[in-house]
Amino acid sequence: MVTGTHPRSPVAAPAHAGAVTPARNLATSRPAPARAEPLLSVRGIEVVYDEVILVLRGLSLAVPQGSVVALLGANGAGKSTTLKAISGLLKSENGAVTRGEIVFDGLRVDGTDPDQIVRRGVFQVLEGRRIVADMTVLENLRLGAFTRRDRENVARDLEMVLGYFPRLRERSGLAGYLSGGEQQMLAIGRALMSAPRLLLVDELSLGLMPRMVDLCLDALRKLNREEGLTIVLVEQNTERALDVAQQVCVLASGRSVFIGAAESARRDVDLLHSYTSAAA
Ligand SMILES: Nc1ncnc2c1ncn2[C@@H]1O[C@H](COP(=O)(O)OP(=O)(O)OP(=O)(O)O)[C@@H](O)[C@H]1O
Ligand SMILES: [Mg+2]
Repeated sequence: MVTGTHPRSPVAAPAHAGAVTPARNLATSRPAPARAEPLLSVRGIEVVYDEVILVLRGLSLAVPQGSVVALLGANGAGKSTTLKAISGLLKSENGAVTRGEIVFDGLRVDGTDPDQIVRRGVFQVLEGRRIVADMTVLENLRLGAFTRRDRENVARDLEMVLGYFPRLRERSGLAGYLSGGEQQMLAIGRALMSAPRLLLVDELSLGLMPRMVDLCLDALRKLNREEGLTIVLVEQNTERALDVAQQVCVLASGRSVFIGAAESARRDVDLLHSYTSAAA
């Protein structure tokens, strides 16, 4: 459930808090004190498209319950592929996880069909905002709740979504006539209507006015703080991503080359830029 069922779990302090640490060092550092398993663990995955194109090369990522993790990296680094591996959408692009594992809430999900993964509570908001243009805003939102069994909570969550995106309440026409920013809000709103436990957001700022990007990112920040929603955010704009995320993972050439607390990364944005602008 999106509303109120997640305990607001503060993000566990990383073992290397306060220091900008390359991911590879984490493996060799002493074990952190015992804490709950992350909601999502991506462990050393390889992803191959068309059986030959190796794109992810041993990528690891941990997403604690109730956190926002920003996934950064140059074009072609493998950010969208990582999200698609988690949501299962790789299959529709003839891609597959060929090594490693993805564990969501204690269960392996790599190799599982995307509709099953949605039922388990993982929802990806796609790059390019796929909404149904000839349906109204409300119809699109209700469509998002299609897979839910708890029909009794759908009306309440509809109100919750319209509360986070009040502009959508004012738009009664077909979704195809919405502005780009409003369509992005609707795409996020529709994802929320599926009552996700983990929301994957790919490049929400693509082609949007800065004001719209701010409204969408503000909504995500509030959803995380107020509803405890766990989010993995792929974002080109590093500063904006750091405003929302508590943790950062930078990808290059299909591997995580930097994992750290957003707070410490904010103090050294130049270093972060050197990672994100490096060759994909
Ligand atoms: N369906 C596909 N079939 C074959 N190769 C693909 C496919 N999708 C992505 N790739 C390749 O995988 C690599 C990583 O792509 P991906 O889209 O994951 O990167 P990205 O980090 O999201 O980049 P961007 O910032 O441009 O969105 C690229 O070299 C890309 O060409
Ligand atoms: Mg991408």
